[in-house]
Amino acid sequence: MKTKLTFLISYTFFFDLTLLSDIMPQTFKLNLDSIMTHVKLDPACANAVKNFTLPENLGFGTVMAPVMASVSYEKGKWGELELLPYGPISMYPNAKVLHYAQEIFEGMKAYRVGGQGPFIFRPEQNHLRFNKSAERMAMPHIPAELFLKACFEVIAYCADFVPRRSGESLYLRPFMFATEEALGIKPSEKFRFMVIASPSGSYFSAGGLSVLIERHGARAFPGGTGYAKAGGNYAASLLAAIKTKNLGLVQTLWLDGRDKKYIEEMSGMNFFAVINNELHTPQLNDSILEGITRKSIIQLAKDEGITVVERKMDIDELITDIKNGHCTEAFACGTAAIIAPIDYLAEETGERYPLLHHEGKVANVLREKLLAIQEGRVKDKYNWISVVEPKTF
Ligand code: COI
Repeated sequence: MKTKLTFLISYTFFFDLTLLSDIMPQTFKLNLDSIMTHVKLDPACANAVKNFTLPENLGFGTVMAPVMASVSYEKGKWGELELLPYGPISMYPNAKVLHYAQEIFEGMKAYRVGGQGPFIFRPEQNHLRFNKSAERMAMPHIPAELFLKACFEVIAYCADFVPRRSGESLYLRPFMFATEEALGIKPSEKFRFMVIASPSGSYFSAGGLSVLIERHGARAFPGGTGYAKAGGNYAASLLAAIKTKNLGLVQTLWLDGRDKKYIEEMSGMNFFAVINNELHTPQLNDSILEGITRKSIIQLAKDEGITVVERKMDIDELITDIKNGHCTEAFACGTAAIIAPIDYLAEETGERYPLLHHEGKVANVLREKLLAIQEGRVKDKYNWISVVEPKTF
């Protein structure tokens, strides 16, 4: 127990230097009991859990689990972690988040396919990314123990509401926002970190994605906040989302903010293409979010003997490759979406570039490999999943 706690503390310490996966052998399984952080349990949670029934049809992110976690930050310190029944929160109208969008979040999933688990996938990676986002948005780091404990406790008390069908999960949404009551443009000195959860099904309805190449607007710029999981980045994508929808398409593909030439990401998902049987994906930069699914796919593809190329991807070269048959497939990936094959790319003018393997030949192999690990159906050779012990009141 002691060793595990020591591990958690040391990786927090190393955060600024490098990524966890670069410094630690991947032989460690996180354990809820190894985290000593005290939790104050609101007695009303018991009733909230008792009165909750998991609906048959879940959708994505609309059904909310009955328990949430919350902890406040003030005077340079994190306070006591609380578990509360899911419900409205109160905030002053001059809370800084409402005016200056000082807010970040994460997306994670807990799985319980066939009744085993719950399992959580690479949560330490979400913690590392959360703190990276926090730094960019002038927000405090949250210690690993606190971040993980809040997530694990919500999963533990909602274990009965983690869906059991393959492809479904309990989607966790850790987030932090500025609560200081003041209108001056200065970083907030008060924050709240919360974890809410949503028993969810697929992010997309069946079928390949139709994707608009956004050649005009920009989601992010060099030196901006694109690599951070900040609410503002998603807000910046919404106008294009309306245009995309009005064109009868489903997703927006963003190009680099400066030259509108190189593929970046898809607001909430990373992009991959199969070109000459290799897997190509945009090389990370400060305007692309470093997806944990992206990183896992790269590893799994290499395990399958697929060459993975991370590079600047010129959109017009990709279109040529689609037209001449060198690019046979493309897909989007992310925590929520898992892996979603792309049917075709399209211009605002209506011109379409259909993908030969729009059903996702490579995408489906990688999706199944990834899901099988996440759902605990195969040996977890990289120790990507951790088990959370269910708790009852
Ligand atoms: C996720 O995949 O978790 C995301 O953050 C995408 C979206 C739901 C915002």
